[in-house]
Amino acid sequence: MNIISGFSKLTKLEKINYLVENFLEGSRFSKEKIKSFWHDNALEQKVFDDFSENTITNFYAPYGVVPNFLLNGKIHCIPMVIEESSVVAASAKAAKFWLDRGGFKASVVSTIKVGQVHFIWKGESAQLYSFFNEVKSELIESVSPLVQNMKKRGGGLLSLELKDCTDLEEGYYQFHGEFETCDAMGANFINSVLEAIGKKWQEFISLNNSFEQEQRDVQIVMCILSNYTPKCLVKAWVECDINELNDSGLGMEPSEFANKFARAVRIAQKDVGRAVTHNKGIFNGIDAVVLATGNDFRAIEACGHAYAARDGQYRSLSNCSIENGKFKFEIEIPLALGTVGGLTSLHPMSKISLDMLGNPNARELMMITAALGLAQNFGAVRSLVTTGIQKGHMKMHLMNILNHLEANDQERELARKEFETQVISFNSVRDFIAGLRNYQ
Ligand code: MEV
Repeated sequence: MNIISGFSKLTKLEKINYLVENFLEGSRFSKEKIKSFWHDNALEQKVFDDFSENTITNFYAPYGVVPNFLLNGKIHCIPMVIEESSVVAASAKAAKFWLDRGGFKASVVSTIKVGQVHFIWKGESAQLYSFFNEVKSELIESVSPLVQNMKKRGGGLLSLELKDCTDLEEGYYQFHGEFETCDAMGANFINSVLEAIGKKWQEFISLNNSFEQEQRDVQIVMCILSNYTPKCLVKAWVECDINELNDSGLGMEPSEFANKFARAVRIAQKDVGRAVTHNKGIFNGIDAVVLATGNDFRAIEACGHAYAARDGQYRSLSNCSIENGKFKFEIEIPLALGTVGGLTSLHPMSKISLDMLGNPNARELMMITAALGLAQNFGAVRSLVTTGIQKGHMKMHLMNILNHLEANDQERELARKEFETQVISFNSVRDFIAGLRNYQ
């Protein structure tokens, strides 16, 4: 067994040696190959290494852009980091489609973030509430040194409520804090404030003489922000008269397209099997922007999916309506994004993304991201109800197979022509290229 102690203390080269000797011997991946993915600038490489732990090299992902994206009357070029073929193309096509039809619109509903102190206290709930009300302002005041900078920027701790959760777990209570973190995602700020509140609360309870001795003990289970931020909400939409949906690429009349599209979205509202795939398409777009701007896509995904199930059934995050001859397609989604602090200001590529977007504030980035998610969803559903998804996918799939086979330009061109009419699979393309190579 290749158990090693003190791995994290090894230098990067020692770590690579250990891997090559113990796990990659005889594989394609030599020390040099692993090192070949290092940044040529040592200082830049150090920045990447320091983001995480036990780093040995970099994992590359394509960085693409969607041009001509009209949002609230302004043209954007939106960066996307995604490895899946056809996603950027679908967004770009949707952006182009809506460019001539008024573009995308978006507005932020609210920007409240949430944090919780989970604790266990055994006693009469009414007594706890009355004690909390007595000390609440002092408790909030105790964190003012931590909050003052955020307050100067217009944010801070907005409210703190005690919640009785004893029906979920014996003696279980929560402090539910609402925060405004302005342009920061705010995780560190929220967690620091929560931990300070937890400590102070413990102190207050231990010193409260009106409680019996055994009630002067509170067990703080955990203090942590909640990634469920249904009040950090943004809306984006596109709309036009049905007859404006006229487009030769649809292969059908505008009203037929509108009805087919709306029905597909209704199905995603009602059937969980379809809803998950439909929302996955939305996150193809959203995650790609979130990654490109150095935000936390796991938090965004987790929250989005919980929001999609907020009424007890998992549903589509987007909606489509046809009313009085108007087609409207919209999305409402919680997006707790930041444009300062964390990776947003450290990762060299997220800095490029933010510059490209005109250095948006968090609210602007929420709107851009939601609109791109909607564009992506429009592109996917449009393909599904018209040509089918495989047509576009297969073109990109062919390119990936040709890359895998290291096809040259001439082989690519011949393959592209051949597979305009033939079914694309790895084997069929491999055989076609092998045929060309044998023939030469
Ligand atoms: C593929 O990554 C995403 C789609 O499946 C989304 C959808 O079905 O709506 C095409």
